[in-house]
Amino acid sequence: MEEESENPSPMSPERLAYEAGRQATRDALKKKCAEVFPKACAITLEIGCGHGHFLAAYATAHPQEQCVGIDLVTQRVAKGNKKGVKQNLGNLLFLKAEALEFLDALPAHVTIVRTFILFPDPWPKKRHWKHRFVQQPLLEKLAARMAPGSEICLRTDHEGYFAWMVDQVAQSPHWKADPAAPWPFEAPSFFQSLMESWQSLVAVRVRE
Ligand SMILES: C[S@@+](CC[C@H](N)C(=O)[O-])C[C@H]1O[C@@H](n2cnc3c(N)ncnc32)[C@H](O)[C@@H]1O
Repeated sequence: MEEESENPSPMSPERLAYEAGRQATRDALKKKCAEVFPKACAITLEIGCGHGHFLAAYATAHPQEQCVGIDLVTQRVAKGNKKGVKQNLGNLLFLKAEALEFLDALPAHVTIVRTFILFPDPWPKKRHWKHRFVQQPLLEKLAARMAPGSEICLRTDHEGYFAWMVDQVAQSPHWKADPAAPWPFEAPSFFQSLMESWQSLVAVRVRE
């Protein structure tokens, strides 16, 4: 059977239109990020934040941190921002963005002090593993923004994805798993509230 194809074939009019659309999205995101982050700042980032349950609780408990959540889905991001307004949280912002595109679009003067990735889509079928966003390109781009000693906090209920995360961190020259590191803040994300168990991994940026 033929491998599933999600994008049109190369150089077809459909492919060109698709690429132009992607580029327009990237340009718009870059413009938005330049507006939102006009000067040097440090942020706490959640990638794939869903409706923002976790990050809203985190921002409430850490009023001194600027918390930014990103997600692919417009409606989820809108719900997150409503939470921030309702709870009067001036340090909480949600943006619609794809993870790698967001890291490319962030102005150079923005650093990330901590990143959370909670219950990312596990993509259980082998042919879909390429869609898992915890892999080398993301670890590479996060490393470029995060200082030695800073952490990526990963959590999943999916055994296979947890093993994958451990392996990806082990393969990266920029990150080292720290089994002794405490989970920095407990508040259930929406997915966590549906799960009976999960595993967590804290990856620390190494000094190079
Ligand atoms: C399973 S949900 C988990 C949501 C939330 N972290 C939680 O624990 O409740 C995964 C989320 O990641 C988002 N997502 C998937 N791929 C993404 C990507 N490449 N960049 C940003 N968000 C992404 C999805 O839209 C979805 O909201």
